[in-house]
Amino acid sequence: MGEIQPEIYILNRDAEESARLNCQHDFLLEVYGNNLIHPSIPKSNIQSVADIATGTGIWLRDAATVLGMWNRNPSSPYYLHGFDISSAQFQPLPTQTNAEISLSLQNCLEPFSSEHHGRYDFVHVRLLIGALRKGEYELAIKNIFDILKPGGYFQWEETDMDSIESDISPQPPSLIEARRLLLSSLDKSDLYTKPAEHIKSEAKCIGFSNLHIVEYSSTTRPHLRDRSRAWLTRALQSVMPMAMIRLGKASEEDFGKEMAKELMAEFESECAEAIVGLNMDMVIGKKPERLESVL
Ligand SMILES: C[S@@+](CC[C@H](N)C(=O)[O-])C[C@H]1O[C@@H](n2cnc3c(N)ncnc32)[C@H](O)[C@@H]1O
Repeated sequence: MGEIQPEIYILNRDAEESARLNCQHDFLLEVYGNNLIHPSIPKSNIQSVADIATGTGIWLRDAATVLGMWNRNPSSPYYLHGFDISSAQFQPLPTQTNAEISLSLQNCLEPFSSEHHGRYDFVHVRLLIGALRKGEYELAIKNIFDILKPGGYFQWEETDMDSIESDISPQPPSLIEARRLLLSSLDKSDLYTKPAEHIKSEAKCIGFSNLHIVEYSSTTRPHLRDRSRAWLTRALQSVMPMAMIRLGKASEEDFGKEMAKELMAEFESECAEAIVGLNMDMVIGKKPERLESVL
């Protein structure tokens, strides 16, 4: 299996990046107070789950375990399906008793095949900020609407890149520079720097109800502050070479990597003792039970 079409995606898909995504998953879960699915979403009727842009499939792996704990009807198996535009990072999922788990290729901007329509009680999406152009969110949300059952929920988590900050005043020069490069490269590529409000308003137009955004700061919990610094540093290291290339500061990846390494070495030194992090925004919405009321 390979790529379906050329894309704007800003990250690599190598083993190092897969390891970073898996590590990031554990960290984000702690930032959310160990809630894989937000407490406002009813869990007892969740039997079928889709994870869009699943990456390595790490979120689904945890979902299979957590659903096993909530299930009131162990004789009825769950159905969990991860979708991604590329299979390059798919990792083998453990066999679960009472759960069928699949991973398959799917561009979230293309309609899903009819077997998936109205199939899912819950759809999860995380971190498409570096992959969807501003005008593409509507299409992705429409496709999520189509695969949800009436009464089903979605939860879409995105970073707020504008919120990158330290507790040092004035902000360290390397942090200012890294944030500036990141924000300009996203903007130049027609990507949002803080997609949550746009996701919410597009979802409203498409017909979702119960829409709200929950904001989490990666630095609120004191015991996570060292990990927040490490997480942000590693994420910036991943994204910065491409930012350099998109902004025309580096002509090829190796040169971009070298420039990014220098900037990030300064960042690590200037922020070594600082509290550094950013906000994650979680958008939640429900597909109405009675569709005729919105169509
Ligand atoms: C930053 S990773 C996040 C992976 C996973 N959601 C997580 O949080 O660990 C973004 C993922 O989106 C996928 N992706 C990019 N464009 C996509 C599209 N149009 N449709 C589906 N997946 C896409 C990438 O291949 C990548 O696996």
